[in-house]
Amino acid sequence: MTDDRRAMFTARYASGDTPWDSGITPPEIRRILDELPPGDALDLGCGTGTVMRDLLANGWRVDGIDFVPSAVELAAQKLADFPPENWRSFCHDVTRLPGLSQLRERYHLIIDIGCGHGLHGAAAVDYARGLSERLARGGVFMLYAAQPRPESAMGWTPDFVERLFCPPLRLVWRQDGEDAKIGAKSSWYRLEL
Ligand SMILES: C[S@@+](CC[C@H](N)C(=O)[O-])C[C@H]1O[C@@H](n2cnc3c(N)ncnc32)[C@H](O)[C@@H]1O
Repeated sequence: MTDDRRAMFTARYASGDTPWDSGITPPEIRRILDELPPGDALDLGCGTGTVMRDLLANGWRVDGIDFVPSAVELAAQKLADFPPENWRSFCHDVTRLPGLSQLRERYHLIIDIGCGHGLHGAAAVDYARGLSERLARGGVFMLYAAQPRPESAMGWTPDFVERLFCPPLRLVWRQDGEDAKIGAKSSWYRLEL
């Protein structure tokens, strides 16, 4: 399943069909950056590195992971002006985090904007377990996920998110909205360890 998704995302980056790549960090993440002291952050499904750039500009060290090489390359170009010791971008599958030995032991902030919600079954469980193992005690996980629609099973319901991550994480808040780009209900979640 992840191979199909990698092929789909690779084709979309190649054709420029990437409506999510707005170059703007969502206000939900900006507010977190205003609130938390800088530390180590991990962006899962980092795309072309827009959020990584804002994390770096706010004094964080950041690692980003995406399984599309061209997205990882674009992220590296976007971040080239920041000190290289403060960021890394990895071409890797987020369902296989234990296989990425270069990751830091723990992150204070983990972000997923529109990546994990495409996973189901064992892949989703592997993703959630790998992520939870990397979150620092007291750390924050910010998740943006679309909800499934009658015409598309892609997405996570709020119930599924809670079952997937809690425990060990706990849900602090959820904010429901609409994803106009895909015409689906969507939610932001703040989870903590
Ligand atoms: C909707 S895009 C969002 C990108 C970025 N978070 C943003 O907001 O601009 C989802 C991203 O997740 C990546 N992705 C999806 N599934 C993945 C997986 N299993 N492992 C790594 N990256 C994945 C895609 O290549 C794509 O860049």
